[in-house]
Amino acid sequence: MISKYHHLIDLNDYPVSWWKKVVSLGEEIKQNPAKFAHECDGKIMATLFYEPSTRTQMSFQTAMLRLGGRIIGFDNPANSSVAKGETIKDTTKIVSSYADVLVIRHPIAGAAKAASLSADCPVINAGDGGHLHPTQTLTDLLTLKIEKKTLSGLTVGMCGDLINGRTVHSLCKALSSFPDNKFIFISTPELRMPVYIKDIIKAHGSEFREVDTLEEAIGELDVLYMTRIQQERFASREEYLAQKDTYVLDRQKMLGAKKDMIVMHPLPRVDEITVEVDDDSRAMYFDQAKYGVYVRMALILTILEEEKSSETLVGKVYSNVRCDNPKCITNHEEYLPKSFRSCGDETLLVCEYCDERKLI
Ligand code: NCD
Repeated sequence: MISKYHHLIDLNDYPVSWWKKVVSLGEEIKQNPAKFAHECDGKIMATLFYEPSTRTQMSFQTAMLRLGGRIIGFDNPANSSVAKGETIKDTTKIVSSYADVLVIRHPIAGAAKAASLSADCPVINAGDGGHLHPTQTLTDLLTLKIEKKTLSGLTVGMCGDLINGRTVHSLCKALSSFPDNKFIFISTPELRMPVYIKDIIKAHGSEFREVDTLEEAIGELDVLYMTRIQQERFASREEYLAQKDTYVLDRQKMLGAKKDMIVMHPLPRVDEITVEVDDDSRAMYFDQAKYGVYVRMALILTILEEEKSSETLVGKVYSNVRCDNPKCITNHEEYLPKSFRSCGDETLLVCEYCDERKLI
């Protein structure tokens, strides 16, 4: 199936040169936003947020408004026909005929991919369940470019809910594509980085190690990326409570960090960074959220300006194989073609929507 639109579902669908171009344009917009104030005059962006959001939704909306465009959408599916049982396919088909670009956030992995199959305009993934969050990664890359002046040779600590955190999944995939970045994953055994992400890091030739405490890693880091324990993605409240409050970055722990380490966090913060850290000049998370507007302006411009047609599904469609991930969109919206990539080995299939592996 060929789509003539320029979707952003996974950053890794594009070459690194493309990400660099978007980030550089974000830097240029930051220097001189007025120059871009009418670039999207007459354009409409739809934001379909099936899941709560403050920064991602509002920074996308601000980005379009600052480019001179206008916005439509919902931030609570209960107020749309989704509440009446409408599928992603139908909602996307209709809304994409009203708008020039569609931004979607959804609690189920692969939902943005599913939307791109039926959209009549470009689709941007603003977070699909615990899977990916490519525009947060563009925000993170711009933050690193501005604050560390480089995207390579960094030792990056990622701390907290690494199994459910889509921001760290996308960021690992991206940063391991640049030379000499090293990762230290700080989490409990239950919340470790998914195997498929670790395999991608290995395939890119980057180093990583896993530790249980912040104290044993913090002194080595150039960047500490804190994350929230994602309560909404746990099977039960008991499992969440067992993990909650394990990692708290406070002034005492910051004493052990390098003088030029920066602290990032996609936000919202719950209690994993104490408020006293906000006054430390190394705390970069509020600036990071601000930079998200510039990079999203750059992304909207790039997606609307460039022509691109590509295969929406590159894998093989199987009528009799199901994805084993209960949180995959193909197990929620039955009409979707079940498409899998093969990983060299014909017996190992990878779901094209959520990246879950399956041995057949
Ligand atoms: C994150 C998200 O929604 O994945 N926030 C964001 O987009 N800025 C992180 C989170 O919810 O914890």
